[in-house]
Amino acid sequence: MILPISQFGDPILRKRCREVDEVTDEIMTLVEDMIETMHEANGVGLAAPQVGRDLRLAVVDVSHDPECVSVLKVNGKDARIEDIMPLVFINPRFEKMGARERMEEGCLSIEEIRAEVQRPGIVKGVFPQLDGSEIELEADGLLARVIQHETDHLNGVLFVDRVSAATKLMLRRELKRLKN
Ligand code: NI
Repeated sequence: MILPISQFGDPILRKRCREVDEVTDEIMTLVEDMIETMHEANGVGLAAPQVGRDLRLAVVDVSHDPECVSVLKVNGKDARIEDIMPLVFINPRFEKMGARERMEEGCLSIEEIRAEVQRPGIVKGVFPQLDGSEIELEADGLLARVIQHETDHLNGVLFVDRVSAATKLMLRRELKRLKN
């Protein structure tokens, strides 16, 4: 089922979301719906608060570009993008490493705006899975970028909070308009 996507100004997008304690049937259905909604919107990631749910849960799919990473390790072994997509995780715990890189970002909750954001190039950490297992993931490139963007959503942070001061000034009027 395609879910409505919360738009900029909706208070759910500013919440620090709750940990997922138990993966219920309802959460399994929510994940299916989130993947369908992300694909339908041509997005590469979607976090639970974007569909109105206060949960530390996100889905990611960058399989349209299998070359988008130069490093991808799952449980310490080299892996391919297609092996782990769509990636679904709850309660992520990871470190951000490497040089900061500049990349243009957009968001399904702020469709009118795209802007460059600087973020560390590498993520490495633990991504609990729905079946109770955990994967240790190390990635760079677009995947590291999307994981950071989606995890920001779980903390009530949006990419427009992370743009340069100059870009913030430029976006101020547009964001004010979107909020009302
Ligand atoms: Ni987003």
